Amino acid sequence: MQHLVISAEILLTDSCLSQGYLGTFGSQSLYLPSTECVVNGATDVNIDIGSLVGVPDDTTTLYWVSDASLEDDLLSALKPANPWEYIDSSLSNGVPIDDGQQILEDFCAPVLYRTSTSSLFALRGRSSEYIALESTLAPYHKGYAISFPPTPLVPVPEDDIARVGSILKSLKYNESIASLVDIISIPQMNKDVTWLTGEAPESSIESRHSFHPDARKAASWIAEQIESTGATCELRPFLPGFTPNVICRYSGTDGSDSLVLLSAHYDSRGSFGSTRAPGGDDDGSGTTAILAIARSIGKSGISFKSNVELCLFGGEEQGLLGSKAYARDLRDADANITLMIQADMLAYHKPGEPPQLGLPDIIGTPEVAQLVAKISAFYSPELEVGFTPACCSDHQSFHEQGFASTQVFERAGPIADPMYHNSGDISNRTGYDFRQLKSIAKVQFATLLHAAGFNEP
Ligand SMILES: *[C@@H]1O[C@H](CO)[C@@H](O)[C@H](O)[C@H]1NC(C)=O
Ligand SMILES: *[C@@H]1O[C@H](CO)[C@@H](O)[C@H](O)[C@H]1NC(C)=O
Ligand SMILES: *[C@@H]1O[C@H](CO)[C@@H](O)[C@H](O)[C@H]1NC(C)=O
Ligand SMILES: [Zn+2]
Repeated sequence: MQHLVISAEILLTDSCLSQGYLGTFGSQSLYLPSTECVVNGATDVNIDIGSLVGVPDDTTTLYWVSDASLEDDLLSALKPANPWEYIDSSLSNGVPIDDGQQILEDFCAPVLYRTSTSSLFALRGRSSEYIALESTLAPYHKGYAISFPPTPLVPVPEDDIARVGSILKSLKYNESIASLVDIISIPQMNKDVTWLTGEAPESSIESRHSFHPDARKAASWIAEQIESTGATCELRPFLPGFTPNVICRYSGTDGSDSLVLLSAHYDSRGSFGSTRAPGGDDDGSGTTAILAIARSIGKSGISFKSNVELCLFGGEEQGLLGSKAYARDLRDADANITLMIQADMLAYHKPGEPPQLGLPDIIGTPEVAQLVAKISAFYSPELEVGFTPACCSDHQSFHEQGFASTQVFERAGPIADPMYHNSGDISNRTGYDFRQLKSIAKVQFATLLHAAGFNEP
């Protein structure tokens, strides 16, 4: 039996424990160290920093469930007194799941670790098990499928941080950039997001859940839209059964291999018992921002000096699975990434609050967040910028592979959207603010223009 260490600390040292790093989920980090590291005490770190948990030998995947970073009032409204009762009873009663190949009758995933805000399950590695577990999650839960073997955390190299630092240092307000980012059109964003959610009469999208056929339809549509702006797009599968990643590229004119990457996730989650998963905010808003940037690139006729990729990931809701696969591919290819920015939930704020921009307080490269904050003050001064604990979207996959990255989010605070992970997450509702969505998309686009450099037509 192997042992898992669950700790509040992210170990960056080159210890035997950090070699077994599985990832950070909510406020906890998981490590699966080698047997020698744990048993023989041949460890250079104190095991006391966390809980030690045994993992059954037939486990192929761990499934971590924790509370998302929600506003207190929202969390207490959603969370029952016994938060695990429902999940446990449905698991022990066996959930009949049709995964398209066979019915799994007696699904059972042992619980390895539990607190009031988190639970760890041992899976034997079939996509149907993810569906079984995920379908039992409450809306305030975030689930992460964690595959073996661990990939040790790669720190972002000093040179890469210095490169972002030098962009930051020479940053000046640029008139051309101000007019380019203002091409972004709210009526067009409305059209795009309502196609993605199925709110538009001409859209037949019911759900963009990773396993739903309509998610594939959405992937092809997104690729088509972005290709029409001059990019080359590819649908890249990463795991059987999951809707693919959409990777679109504009080749740079300076002949270097440097790359600037903007992303969002286009998969979504709905409510228990409903097949609708419109994902208008999570993350139809981020997807729409990426589409708006692509459309503006196409309309303006600019080209970039550096290579640029716009990526729409699948499998985010099952544990950042699409971005994990792509970040690993880019690390294997020794990609020269200047920076990457993930957009996840951009449109909602509490009614009465000013428009905001949230940047992650733990996961990511502080220099990239600083750059985004400064660019926001130039081109979208109406945004109130601050930190958010709503961490852990797809930028985390890049962060863990040592790429300079950050995230943009809709609030300078925790998640306040009452339709989070809910089948009611449409765009036509109180608190869904297209002006904020445009303001944040302008910041993403301006950061891209500053970081990649561009040639006017
Ligand atoms: C704005 O940026 C573009 C692209 O880097 C550059 O060609 C142009 O000179 C800049 N404009 C000003 C006023 O600095
Ligand atoms: C990466 O790109 C930068 C330009 O942004 C360039 O200066 C550097 O030489 C490149 N690094 C490698 C290893 O090619
Ligand atoms: C938005 O919803 C309201 C009802 O809540 C409806 O009257 C209105 O027509 C909807 N707008 C659009 C553009 O669908
Ligand atoms: Zn999301």
